[in-house]
Amino acid sequence: MKVSIIGQGYVGLTISAYAGEFYEVVGFDNNQRIVNQLNQGISHIEGVESSVLKGWIKAGRYRATTDGSDINGSDIVVIAVPTPLTKDRQPDLTFIEAACKTVGENLKNQALIINESTSFPGTIRRYIKPAIEKYSGGKLEHLYAISPERVDPGRGDYNQRNTPRLYSGLTAEASEKTRDFYSKFCDKLVEVSSPEVAEAAKLFENTFRQVNIALVNEFAQITNALGISVYETLDAANTKPYGFMKFTPSAGVGGHCIPVDPTYLAAVAEERGVPATFIRRANEVNLEMSKYVVDRVEADHGGSLQGKSVLVVGVAYKPNVADVRETAAELVIEHLRAQGAVVAWHDDVVGTWHGEKSSELSGADIAIVITKHDVVGTKEIMASAPYVFDATGKLPQAHGL
Ligand SMILES: NC(=O)c1ccc[n+]([C@@H]2O[C@H](COP(=O)([O-])OP(=O)(O)OC[C@H]3O[C@@H](n4cnc5c(N)ncnc54)[C@H](O)[C@@H]3O)[C@@H](O)[C@H]2O)c1
Repeated sequence: MKVSIIGQGYVGLTISAYAGEFYEVVGFDNNQRIVNQLNQGISHIEGVESSVLKGWIKAGRYRATTDGSDINGSDIVVIAVPTPLTKDRQPDLTFIEAACKTVGENLKNQALIINESTSFPGTIRRYIKPAIEKYSGGKLEHLYAISPERVDPGRGDYNQRNTPRLYSGLTAEASEKTRDFYSKFCDKLVEVSSPEVAEAAKLFENTFRQVNIALVNEFAQITNALGISVYETLDAANTKPYGFMKFTPSAGVGGHCIPVDPTYLAAVAEERGVPATFIRRANEVNLEMSKYVVDRVEADHGGSLQGKSVLVVGVAYKPNVADVRETAAELVIEHLRAQGAVVAWHDDVVGTWHGEKSSELSGADIAIVITKHDVVGTKEIMASAPYVFDATGKLPQAHGL
């Protein structure tokens, strides 16, 4: 069975690596550099081993391509492309549209089209199906389904096999074929009654995290004003065995999921006349944390950071990955510079960011820890500046939230 996967990033390459064990996989991506690398068996994604890719390439079960015509003849096409926000923070479906164009123009046989990209309820029914029909001239009756991705790159305990997967087709046949496809490499498949339920569930999962993170970020500000430790208070609350789930404060929320997906839910709510005030405010609270962190550091320095050398430690959006999308470090640096600080950053996992190389972890007046990778030692961080502010909760010796 031939499976084409549109987009070879975190989601698409992960699925390709699992599917390669059972299917002939074509990984389509419009980034030539990534495709060249993948065809040499070099993975650019945490959690996808190059050795696995090399194995599938050798067995003739994986190849990457930028040529849309290579997807022709596929039994299944999986769409895994970015779903970001526009400049005015509205859902941006231009990548989905481009993927639909590739599929519509190149696929000459009937197939099952599955969307794994995160988007608002109705995307597969009202957007993807009509778009593919438009680009293919409506000659083929494809099957359509959604199976939102839950992968958490860099995570060891949960993977494609043991993370339950939601799915639903537009028809019973589409649902059945979707189940057959994933059941080879996923132990628990959960069918829901419509694609809209699966799409909404994915958005709600991330919105749940967003609002709880906002709540704990606000709580950190309250505990600081009360002169008590937020971490000790959270640990105390967490001794309750039911009805509580611990979230931890930070300098803000990064990645392309938590800061983005809830806005897809808010947009679809507002389109239907439901004000999504709670979701919108949670996003604002998380964005404001970067300013709060800088204000705290400034207050500890007599109200001015003018001319101080500040090292921002850890610019990836979370530990042990090189992903900097929507990282809170960006806003922290912006606020620091606005206060006249001379800012450098250190993150050897990221390496290069905005064309700049990671600086030495030493010699600053102030260090602010945004993300702590396991490979970076606590001692080294504490020795990097006479004053260290920790926004991660991992350095109890430092000043912190
Ligand atoms: N990364 C995660 O942790 C995660 C988890 C769950 C869901 N998601 C969702 O999955 C989707 C994909 O995210 P990702 O993290 O894999 O993104 P990514 O940026 O890592 O990868 C996307 C890939 O798609 C390629 N691409 C863009 N437009 C294309 C097109 N028209 N045709 C072919 N390739 C194209 C890019 O070159 C890139 O390699 C998004 O909707 C995201 O919200 C991501």
